[in-house]
Amino acid sequence: MKIHHVGYLAKNLEKSVKRFIELGYEVERPCKYDPIRKINIEFLVNGDYRVELIQPMSEESPMYPLLKRFKNTPYHFCYEVADLDLATKELSEKGYTVIQEPEIAPCIDDRRVVFMNNISMGIIELVEN
Ligand code: NI
Repeated sequence: MKIHHVGYLAKNLEKSVKRFIELGYEVERPCKYDPIRKINIEFLVNGDYRVELIQPMSEESPMYPLLKRFKNTPYHFCYEVADLDLATKELSEKGYTVIQEPEIAPCIDDRRVVFMNNISMGIIELVEN
């Protein structure tokens, strides 16, 4: 599966963006608030690599516990799939568990995404093409 982005937790998105730009990244999509997950998201690119910076904006955000635990860190790879329901079913059969039901991602053109977890893999995200 082709990688769409790497998700990176940020305690302070604005400060993190400056650091990424210093390393040669460019802003692809400026900061946008995702009201479903209560997070600010900004996409940066560096050649073929895309990073999604995520700052939980409330303790009610599902990503807040991850930030508390890991601070600034990459925490998921997102893979592109043609059919989200089919891919979710196939990975479920391979031992992945859905940890966040399929939802619209306002910051990725309202494409559907799902988060899954596997004991030997950790968290992955799927985004529907
Ligand atoms: Ni992501």
